[in-house]
Amino acid sequence: MSLDCKTIHQEIYPYSTEIRTFFSPGRVNLIGEHIDYNGGYVMPFAISNGNAGCISIRLDQKIAFYSSNFSDYGIISSDLEHLEYVKDNGWANYAIGIIYELKKRNYLIPNGFDISITGNLPTGAGLSSSASIEALVITMMNECFHLGISKRDLSLISQYVENNYIHVNCGIMDQFVILNGIKDHALLLNTSSLEYKLVPMLLTEYEIVICNSLVKRGLVGSKYNERRQECDEALVIFQKFLDVSELCQISPSQFEMCKSYLGSNTLVKRSRHAVYENYRTIECFTAFNNKDYFKVGRLLTASHESLKDDYEVSCYELDLLVELALQNGSIGSRMTGAGFGGCTVSLVNKKDIEGFKKAVKDGYYQATGLLVEILVASVVDGTKEEV
Ligand code: GLA
Repeated sequence: MSLDCKTIHQEIYPYSTEIRTFFSPGRVNLIGEHIDYNGGYVMPFAISNGNAGCISIRLDQKIAFYSSNFSDYGIISSDLEHLEYVKDNGWANYAIGIIYELKKRNYLIPNGFDISITGNLPTGAGLSSSASIEALVITMMNECFHLGISKRDLSLISQYVENNYIHVNCGIMDQFVILNGIKDHALLLNTSSLEYKLVPMLLTEYEIVICNSLVKRGLVGSKYNERRQECDEALVIFQKFLDVSELCQISPSQFEMCKSYLGSNTLVKRSRHAVYENYRTIECFTAFNNKDYFKVGRLLTASHESLKDDYEVSCYELDLLVELALQNGSIGSRMTGAGFGGCTVSLVNKKDIEGFKKAVKDGYYQATGLLVEILVASVVDGTKEEV
């Protein structure tokens, strides 16, 4: 992929001389869904599908962006003094937002540059294609202009851009794992402290299989913000009885004791998901350490049930994919990411993989007329320069 990227770069910017190449992965979250904005534990990993990018530094102050995935946009250009959000810049706002924020924080970007990107992450599939671009561009800036920013801060700045420039109110999970991911490991990330532990993902008997429903995450913006707001409302009520600053600090027994004060079934459901999903994620970490993959599988499926019934962020197609997975050899399956479309993640015994793929494809096609895309995940490092 990086080779392709260099060829594209030379075609688009034929005058460029020194070209540096970077790769930024996508992400899959194994468990701990919709709790990264409630201070919970999440367990994401970086995947080999992602964005490759090339950069060459210019002598003037111009900046230019090209993506072969959005070739209709052509080359989007501006300069280092004009970095405001422009709707027509489309995908390039994720890149320009990063430059805007770095400059606002007084990081020195002395020269303009040309960037080209090519990716194999399906957009709108819930595999964080936008966070992958943010991570790619911020890493390029950090390396090419020697900004000396830690990976932790690169993640926080990228999340800040997503929240304040793009105006998507996401948590820290995607940017953090894309920048800090470690090959063959998931991170057990405490989203409150940003401390993490590694979870080995090279499983001798099982594969992690990703199924793309091909349903674009339509409602995600509005419903995502609505869920965040419901969690905040529930927290305010719990705080009258419990000394907590985030929903995921509440234990299941405290939740059961106090839930009747919430006064609304919706708030009970939302906060029940947050509290128990956090516990499932911690239990899942223990199950991995004990190599108890049946337990891991049961926790994944329980997470899906909770996202479907209590958090209400699933949809018919995701539920169908989970059902088909469980009927065809998977020991645990769930939707991954924000929901309302996108992908599922399933644990499947290696010897059952081919049968699994065929049965899920056929079943999904019969029910929906759609051809599900199936990827077997390889877990890679976070964004870095390719050498
Ligand atoms: C999106 C957001 C993340 C996280 C997930 C749900 O991917 O960007 O911060 O909230 O949804 O777990």
